[in-house]
Amino acid sequence: TKALRIGIAGLGTVGAGVVKILAARGDYLAAACGRPIELVAVSARNSNKDRGIDLSGVRWESDPMALARADDIDLVAELIGGSEGVARELVEAALKAGKHVVTANKALIAHHGTALARLAEEKGVALNYEAAVAGGIPIVKTMRESLAGNEIRSIHGILNGTCNYILTEMETTGRDFADVLKDAQDLGYAEADPTFDVGGIDAAHKLAILASLAFGTEVDFANVHIEGIEKISATDIAFAREFGFKVKLLAIAEKVDGGVVQRVHPALVPEGTPLAAVSGVYNAVAVDGDRVGHLVLEGRGAGEGPTASAVLSDLADIARGLILPPFILPAKKLKAPAKPAMDTHKSS
Ligand code: NDP
Ligand code: HSE
Repeated sequence: TKALRIGIAGLGTVGAGVVKILAARGDYLAAACGRPIELVAVSARNSNKDRGIDLSGVRWESDPMALARADDIDLVAELIGGSEGVARELVEAALKAGKHVVTANKALIAHHGTALARLAEEKGVALNYEAAVAGGIPIVKTMRESLAGNEIRSIHGILNGTCNYILTEMETTGRDFADVLKDAQDLGYAEADPTFDVGGIDAAHKLAILASLAFGTEVDFANVHIEGIEKISATDIAFAREFGFKVKLLAIAEKVDGGVVQRVHPALVPEGTPLAAVSGVYNAVAVDGDRVGHLVLEGRGAGEGPTASAVLSDLADIARGLILPPFILPAKKLKAPAKPAMDTHKSS
């Protein structure tokens, strides 16, 4: 059977992880998808770096845009990052050329998701982004497919692994913020610019994507109220603990007064609740649907293995011929209340 021929742009934490899974599980994937997934070409900045992956027989493209032009590539995996520049140009060019796209880039989808989804639908190709939200947790698939029978009332969760790792380490070791951030960077959890993590922007990107899937509205990052964890000290965390609370960076999207509130901010979460128990790099997403009721998914939210695992789920879907609309289009504009209501969250 004809292979799904892929090109990967970006061979960092995520890209190298994907190459490793393709090498280790090629036979399984070919059997599970009914056809092989063949890595044809890759692109990154430095062709001399030792990445711990075997690229023999794989073409090296010094210009990632060559992947969008290549006749022997059916799918481009964009694993570079950034909402503008080469990542955006590559995804647009690949879709315009009628190639499927898989990306882990939440910044890109949060800023340009609706326009890119239109382009993908026009061309009849897939634009899959499971890895963009909550690392290894299959939340995009859950929202797009499994919960289609529900009217969603709210989503709230812990959507940034770096912040949850930092808060957990501060709590358990009393170490200071900068020290722990450096660890998260070394572990491959943090964004290229870590202020996106600690400033709440990365969680807001993910929340805007989830809100769109939940409520059938356009991705609306501009209407997310954002506060990060930069001002939280180890002393704050210790005091909270004395009163029976954990400090968590929460991301919340809920229907309020006919509109949708989206907010990201540190919150006191009562011990004994599912979100309070989420520690380290783990994320969790709690969804409230009218038929399914309350549902919580938890798993590793960042790092090589979990994120590459999510990218592979997208590749496998496309290899199997499952081409879903990226978002629910035509989407309504999201109606945001004039001021975010800050007192409506009931912790779960
Ligand atoms: P890295 O910084 O580890 O890797 C980025 C890769 O992109 C590198 O291989 C780099 O090349 C390459 N690159 C950068 N600029 C260019 C360019 N102009 N042309 C060609 N290649 C380029 O990032 P991650 O792997 O951590 O992240 C990739 C994407 O995945 C981002 O969108 C990120 O937000 C997302 N993501 C990351 C997660 C994580 O846990 N790390 C989790 C979920 C999503 P070189 O290696 O030669 O420098
Ligand atoms: N920097 C992100 C995080 C990567 O820490 O959650 C996963 O999206």
